[in-house]
Order: sequence, then C-alpha cells, then structure tokens
Amino acid sequence: MSRDGAPPRARLAVLLSGRGSNFLALQAAIERGDLPARIVLVVSDQAEAPGLKAARELGLRAVALPRRGEPSREAHESKLLSALAEADVEWVCLAGYMRLLSASFVARYPRRMVNIHPSLLPAFPGLHAQAQAVEHGVKVSGCTVHLVDAGVDSGPIIVQRAVPVYDSDSPSELANRILQQEHKAYPEALRRLLAQRWEIVGRRVVFAAEKNL
Ligand code: GAR
Repeated sequence: MSRDGAPPRARLAVLLSGRGSNFLALQAAIERGDLPARIVLVVSDQAEAPGLKAARELGLRAVALPRRGEPSREAHESKLLSALAEADVEWVCLAGYMRLLSASFVARYPRRMVNIHPSLLPAFPGLHAQAQAVEHGVKVSGCTVHLVDAGVDSGPIIVQRAVPVYDSDSPSELANRILQQEHKAYPEALRRLLAQRWEIVGRRVVFAAEKNL
C-alpha cells in the first residue's frame, strides 16, 4: 500500500516502433483511473516514431534506441535492458514493437512482458497479420493480448477480441476495425493482470476474482 492507502501503481515501459495508438490507449486508461499503473518509460527503435513524439508531448520519459549503429543484437538489447533497469520498470508492454526480442531478453521479465497482436492467435502470427487474414478468407479475426515467451506471438493468451471480416475488406480496412478493439483489449488485459490473482496452468492464464482497486 502507498501512503494514501491506494495500492502501488505498477511501473510500465512501453516499447513501440510507429504510430503509438496502443500506447496512447494505455495512457488514457491510466488517466481515467482504469489501470493501476504508470508509464515510466517509452522506448522506440525508430527515432522518428510518432509514438515517441506523443510520449514526449505528454511529458513522459521517452528514448530512441535504434538498432542501426549497434554492432549486434546483444549490444542493442543490452542498452534496452539498461534503460529498463534505470527506470525501475516492472512490466514491459510491447505495443507495435516490430523487432523480435531474444530468449535471454525475454527471460529477464518472466511473466512480466506483454504483447498485442492483430489476429486471433494462434492464427496468423508474425508480420502483416491482417493481410494474412484477408488472404486466407477467414470470416472472423481480431486481436490477442498475450504474455511474451521465447517464440513468435506464441505466449499464453490473456484477452482476445473478435471482429467480423467482410468480403469487401482490404487489409487496411480490417486493420482499422481490429485496432478499435485493440484499444480496449490492451488496457483490459493489463488491468486483469494487475488487479486479479492469476496463474498459468498449462498454456492457460487462469484468473481468480478481481481485487478491490
Ligand atoms: C497494432 O495493430 C499492433 O497490434 C501491431 O502493430 C500495430 C501498432 O499500432 N503489432 C504487431 O503487428 C506485432 N506483431 P500502434 O503503433 O498504433 O499501436
């Protein structure tokens, strides 16, 4: 408990590569009081990412850590780990971070690293998930928030939200429909992780009743 009796707020880092709309959805949920957390660091591998600019405008600590210029993936990840440690980060939230993280990096935040992916996993992992869904001809797609493990989009699922796929959909029309659900699913998933007791049983994230926050 903090001094005012409220539960302590979890310290989040958000990693992004582009627009940052999921980051902004998390920040909005925090500001509404829906998420007992604070974003203590925003990191991008793209110096020009609009999400990084948005974070700075909100007065959040925001750093660019481009992969280019680093001699190796290990060197890049080591800088990232230092930035996370310096900000005393407890949870790492991947929000459109388009870079694979090594197994040893993931192991530094066991069950404390979360990703959002624009498909109903395990369908369509990897790049261009919405185009894969349109191409495949599925009638339903959506988004998945999951814990990160050493694989690609393969960790235990926390929350999923579905949307219809129409015959006339282009990948970008489907992406926009899914994105609206992403902005609800990500705060909801983090809230559940922070506010409820949970355990992993097999591949399953099993939640107990919600704590009083
Ligand atoms: C989102 O659709 C997210 O699900 C996707 O990138 C977009 C980022 O948008 N992530 C992946 O495809 C990861 N495999 P945003 O920058 O506006 O949050």
